[in-house]
Amino acid sequence: MSEISEKIEIHRGLKGVYFDRSRVCFIDGRAGELRYCGYTIHDLAENSTFEETCYLLMYGELPRRAELEAFSAELKAARSLPAPIYEVIRAVKDAHPMDVLRTAVSALAAFDPEVADNSREATLRKGIRLSSQVPMIVAAHEHLRNGREPVAPNPKLGHAANFLYMLKGTEPSADAAKLMELDLILHAEHGSNASAFTARVVAGTEANLHAAMTAAVAALSGPAHGGAAENVMRMAQEIGDPAKAADYVKAKRAKREAVMGFGHRVYRAEDPRARHMRAGVERLSREMGQPQWYQILEALVAAMKPYARLGVNVNVDFYAGVVYYLNGIPADLFVPIFAIGRVPGWTVQVLEQFENNILIRPLTEYNGAAPRSYLLIEQR
Ligand SMILES: CC(C)(COP(=O)(O)OP(=O)(O)OC[C@H]1O[C@@H](n2cnc3c(N)ncnc32)[C@H](O)[C@@H]1OP(=O)(O)O)[C@@H](O)C(=O)NCCC(=O)NCCS
Repeated sequence: MSEISEKIEIHRGLKGVYFDRSRVCFIDGRAGELRYCGYTIHDLAENSTFEETCYLLMYGELPRRAELEAFSAELKAARSLPAPIYEVIRAVKDAHPMDVLRTAVSALAAFDPEVADNSREATLRKGIRLSSQVPMIVAAHEHLRNGREPVAPNPKLGHAANFLYMLKGTEPSADAAKLMELDLILHAEHGSNASAFTARVVAGTEANLHAAMTAAVAALSGPAHGGAAENVMRMAQEIGDPAKAADYVKAKRAKREAVMGFGHRVYRAEDPRARHMRAGVERLSREMGQPQWYQILEALVAAMKPYARLGVNVNVDFYAGVVYYLNGIPADLFVPIFAIGRVPGWTVQVLEQFENNILIRPLTEYNGAAPRSYLLIEQR
């Protein structure tokens, strides 16, 4: 028992705890609402580009045309990796792409001329550089691990299309580029999720953006956070037939295991990002003559209906994985793609932390052994 008389309230997993204010992302989990800087995710999903959304997150306002052009040019100019980074990727190429990404982001700290400058301006410049470098790392790794040389970026293409181009070596169709763009917008920022919180904890110690982002990539790699999209596709493949979805859910729940792509720490209503990806899965699986994927996912939704009443609904990752799969992207790149979208979000979270910095240091209540005497080793 603790000797301290103050009343201790424990919020495991920090559920429901507000630790600071943020002007970037508004989430209403009950209503299923998400807004970036006041703009609903639906308007952004339907009308925006990744570059524009990235600008909005970083500067708080939608850009005017000239501002957007200058910002896009800055992102394009930042599409380069120092030569030793390719060697780092080569050295660890057999690891999971998230481990490779984490290692390469960490290594980039050694080459960024402003690494130790935590001013707002320098942090923004670094955030822009990292926004362009993270997709390059993911694409370069895909080639290097398959014995090919990386594909140089294409300055004619926007952020999303250029990533697909670097990944596949051919220009993507307008449709494929648009879906990737949508995916990156939907993933760009999401308040105090595990990886953004991790980034803020690191920034809270006054470490730099590269350190915070390395830690954020590490946090994102887990299946309870970014890894869900990869696991949803595996689940869909394992189920194989819409008629088997209900039994799959029954078996999972009997073992008290989570069904991937369902549930969220904040959303009780459906994740508002999910519907945009659902439309993509529906269309792609029809167009590509593989309707079973959409049918399996919808059968899973039907089987999970009883849990919807408890606030367990589909999240964005439920549909994202199948979109990537139908675009011919290997399953272990699904989480890195999430990371590509999230770089601006991590950057602004770190910026906000720096703005009014405080060391993040919660407490744990001691419930270990009572005070006892130390015994010399020969007396134990
Ligand atoms: C995301 C996640 C970790 C949130 O966990 P959490 O905040 O602790 O979950 P909640 O408090 O909302 O859970 C409430 C109840 O719903 C159940 N539940 C939550 N997610 C579930 C899921 N995916 N499948 C089945 N049941 C689930 C929980 O087991 C819990 O039931 P209990 O009270 O009987 O134990 C969890 O939902 C999960 O593991 N989902 C699958 C992974 C995933 O898709 N992650 C991506 C998130 S974007």
